Amino acid sequence: MKPCRVLFVCLGNICRSPTAQGVFEHIVAREKLSDQVVVDSAGTSGWHIDSAPDARTVQAAESRGYDLRALRGRKAIKQDFELFDFILAMDQENLDALNDLKPNNYSGHLGLFLDFASKASTREVPDPYYGGAQGFDTVLDLIEDASEGLMAHIKIQR
Ligand code: 4NP
Repeated sequence: MKPCRVLFVCLGNICRSPTAQGVFEHIVAREKLSDQVVVDSAGTSGWHIDSAPDARTVQAAESRGYDLRALRGRKAIKQDFELFDFILAMDQENLDALNDLKPNNYSGHLGLFLDFASKASTREVPDPYYGGAQGFDTVLDLIEDASEGLMAHIKIQR
């Protein structure tokens, strides 16, 4: 069966979307689906191309058992719509940017990642970059919630 490809997208690709990649890869491995589900992340800005994730993001993730240190920033590009079955934005601003990039014939799922969350009371993962440490924990809470929902959705689909 063709692998399912998931791309998480935020603005910088150094805080929210690498966190989503690390958390979702962890769940994919837990479900023994690593040969069937491919995970990546990107930013709608090109500000942090080839950068490692933000140190605060790496530390918050590590405290919950996720290792993000090997990830590097890249920019979301039009060709991503040829590759990925799910392209999931962290907030509306990034979803708008992706909609501008999207070819008319894209047949995958482009939407907000938190639409897969069951506990969250918001549809957007707040940008933690200019805030304090608590923001990075909130990002993890929201992303862990939506990741479980996304995994359940993918398992039903396959
Ligand atoms: P991210 O957070 O979109 O979750 O990676 C940000 C990272 C960097 C910047 C803004 C948001 N920045 O302004 O450089």
